[in-house]
Amino acid sequence: MHHESFIHRCLELAALGRKRTGTNPLVGALLVRNGLLIAEAWHEEFGGSHAERLLLQNFEQEIRSTDTLYVNLEPCCHEEKKTLPCTSILLERGVKRVVVGMVDPNPKVAGQGIALLRSRGVQVVAPVERVPCERLNRGFVSLMTKARPWITLHNARTLDGRIANADGSPLKITSPQQDAWAHEHLRAMHDAILVGVGTIIADDPQLTVRLSNTKVDQINPLRIVLDPNLRLPLDTKIVTGKAARGTVIVCAESLDAAGHARKALLEERGVVVALLPLHSDGHFVWDALWEYFRMPLQGFHGIASVLVEGGPGVWQAFRGAGMVDEEVTLVGSPTMSH
Ligand SMILES: NC(=O)c1ccc[n+]([C@@H]2O[C@H](COP(=O)([O-])OP(=O)(O)OC[C@H]3O[C@@H](n4cnc5c(N)ncnc54)[C@H](OP(=O)(O)O)[C@@H]3O)[C@@H](O)[C@H]2O)c1
Repeated sequence: MHHESFIHRCLELAALGRKRTGTNPLVGALLVRNGLLIAEAWHEEFGGSHAERLLLQNFEQEIRSTDTLYVNLEPCCHEEKKTLPCTSILLERGVKRVVVGMVDPNPKVAGQGIALLRSRGVQVVAPVERVPCERLNRGFVSLMTKARPWITLHNARTLDGRIANADGSPLKITSPQQDAWAHEHLRAMHDAILVGVGTIIADDPQLTVRLSNTKVDQINPLRIVLDPNLRLPLDTKIVTGKAARGTVIVCAESLDAAGHARKALLEERGVVVALLPLHSDGHFVWDALWEYFRMPLQGFHGIASVLVEGGPGVWQAFRGAGMVDEEVTLVGSPTMSH
């Protein structure tokens, strides 16, 4: 088998960590002997062992000089909190051949892991399948290079350009097939879904992942609502019952007394209400927003990717600030629109 196929297996394993690794990268590792895969591991959760370390810790046999270790991200060479560098365990265990998918964009690594291994006589082939490797870790790459999550803007419109009914009430635009695709390929692939308060008031969405394909991760993304004045009705779905514990409402620091009373009611239910600074244009200060979402919140260890779903107010804010990495518009056919 070729290097490329083994790196693709690393990516499949790495993806199992999605929504669990927080601001850490998604990483899978394999050990190959005589062309056969003999061990594999992935970075399972934030703060857990790195994939290569986990693999070598669990692999009890001697490593042979002809064995090859595959990993989709360059092994780290720096010590972080309680985590020892992966290059050390590779050297200690006598790994002599390593194939790496992409260089680590973390400035603390940035090619130094590969250089260190080479300087110690390890044969390193890198990068192999860099584009799909960077694609899988687009959230981590964005955090490292832009200090913000990867942002996908997702919206729907009819062929004649409508996004809602004339009175602002929700219009069913997409087909069941388009909805299924969006749940599997957009909602299930992002750490968070973000909307403005206008969408909550107009549509009262659930903002969950609903999939028929049980092979795909069913963990719901964190729900984020931009709501400077805390206008969100208290009976909407995302702040009611179990859903409350997966929702973060972002409000202005200058919230009035009535707003503070509503904030307390929401917090009693488990909703997180964040108070962040507003810019003079009425938009949240972007740096403050992204810094806030790097923190552990509602079971997430930092947000690496955000799906911006609606409506025009947030679309314009994100587009205007150059905060869109990818945009997906689903166009409904005329027979489906009313
Ligand atoms: N076809 C689609 O794909 C789609 C998707 C979603 C919604 N919709 C439709 O869109 C309509 C709602 O539009 P909308 O523009 O009101 O919805 P929205 O974008 O969800 O909400 C807009 C409001 O969110 C707050 N906001 C947005 N960006 C902000 C930022 N960067 N900083 C601070 N606050 C921010 C502001 O609240 P304040 O006004 O309180 O300042 C703003 O007025 C509805 O008719 C809905 O059915 C269509």
